[in-house]
This record gives sequence, structure tokens and C-alpha cells, in this order.
Amino acid sequence: MRIEGYVIVSANGMLADANGTMPDSLKFKGDQEFFETALDTADLIVHGRNSFEDQPRSPQRRRIILTTKIPALADDPANAKATLWNPAGASFEDACRRAGVTSGTAAIIGGPVVFEMFMDRYDTFWLSQAHRLDIPHGIGTFPGVPAVTPQAVLARHGLKPGERRVLDAGADVDLTAWRRD
Ligand SMILES: NC(=O)c1ccc[n+]([C@@H]2O[C@H](COP(=O)([O-])OP(=O)(O)OC[C@H]3O[C@@H](n4cnc5c(N)ncnc54)[C@H](OP(=O)(O)O)[C@@H]3O)[C@@H](O)[C@H]2O)c1
Repeated sequence: MRIEGYVIVSANGMLADANGTMPDSLKFKGDQEFFETALDTADLIVHGRNSFEDQPRSPQRRRIILTTKIPALADDPANAKATLWNPAGASFEDACRRAGVTSGTAAIIGGPVVFEMFMDRYDTFWLSQAHRLDIPHGIGTFPGVPAVTPQAVLARHGLKPGERRVLDAGADVDLTAWRRD
């Protein structure tokens, strides 16, 4: 499967605030439109139990949710389109088979530990950043951020910055596609 990552972060590399929630200050129309369009074309969404894209078509999307609450794989009693996955007990490929999606694109949407699990597998990682927003004491994009930048982590795993798009000129929000050769 093709693996793509999506995140928006503050200037200091935070994807959520100190309370563990994504603040409204990190929500921008241009980024939300890009994210929604991208997820509409994905075949599978993958995220940790506390992350969810919360879009109008979210209920229609097939997804894998990481949790330690089950030993390996299980249907999600709360969502017929969701498979619960504990990586300690089953591989990603097993989880995809259980979800019924074995080709196409998987969109990885966080949080940090989930992003890190796929770090050597991303075909493209879509990094949006709000360059004028600082979130003090928040949750870093990946483990190790902010001691290192998200860009340094992506580069360390063989990804290179490609095209850059301005998503909100007034707020200085841009999007960079980090791709593997
Ligand atoms: N700015 C952005 O683009 C962006 C992107 C993603 C998330 N966020 C925000 O970040 C916050 C969530 O952060 P979070 O760190 O709590 O992320 P999370 O990965 O969504 O949730 C963590 C939970 O997922 C499960 N999990 C994660 N990795 C696992 C693993 N390797 N094995 C088994 N289970 C695993 C565990 O669930 P159990 O407790 O059930 O075991 C863990 O408690 C939210 O506010 C979200 O909105 C923002």
C-alpha cells in the first residue's frame, strides 16, 4: 500500500497543546480543505485512539484505530467501518487485511507515536506548518520534537522536501510534501 502522512504543526513543532488537545489556533481553512480533500481520496485512515479527523464524511471512511485495549485485532463495537489494532499482537498488513483494504493509499493522521511507527514507510509526508504560532509545552509532532525539528526527523528517515504550497498567506501557513526518492 502507498503510505501518506498528514499533520499541521505550530512554528515550534507542536501538534496539540499542553492539555493534549488540538487548539483552534491550529485550525486554518486552507489546511482543513486540503486535509479533507486528501482523506476523501484515501482508501484507509490510520490513527491512535485520541486522534480523529472530525469531518462530514468521516463516518463513511474505513479506518484502523491503534489501542492497547485489545491483544491484537478486533472489530470496533462503536464503528462498523473501524478495526481496532494493537501492533504488539498483529502486523500492519494483518490489520489492513482485517479492515478489508490491501491496496491503494493509507493516510496516517497521528498522533506522534503512530506517525513514528511509519517513519521508514512514508511515500509522502504532508507537513503543514503555522509559522507565526507558538504553542508552549504542547505535544510534539514526533517523539523527540522540539529538541529536534519535525523537518530534521523526516530528513533523518530519508524524506526530502518537495513542492511547497501556501495555505494561508496572512497567517503564514504553508504545506510541504516530503517525499522519498
Ligand atoms: N495537529 C495535527 O495535525 C494533529 C494530528 C494528530 C493528532 N493531533 C492531536 O493530538 C492529540 C492526540 O495525541 P495522542 O498522543 O494522544 O495521540 P493518539 O495516537 O491519537 O492516541 C494515543 C492512544 O492511541 C493508542 N496508541 C498509540 N500508539 C499505540 C501503539 N503503538 N500501540 C497501541 N496503541 C497505541 C493508545 O490508545 P489506548 O490508550 O487505547 O491504549 C494511546 O493512548 C489530539 O488532541 C489530536 O487532536 C493533532
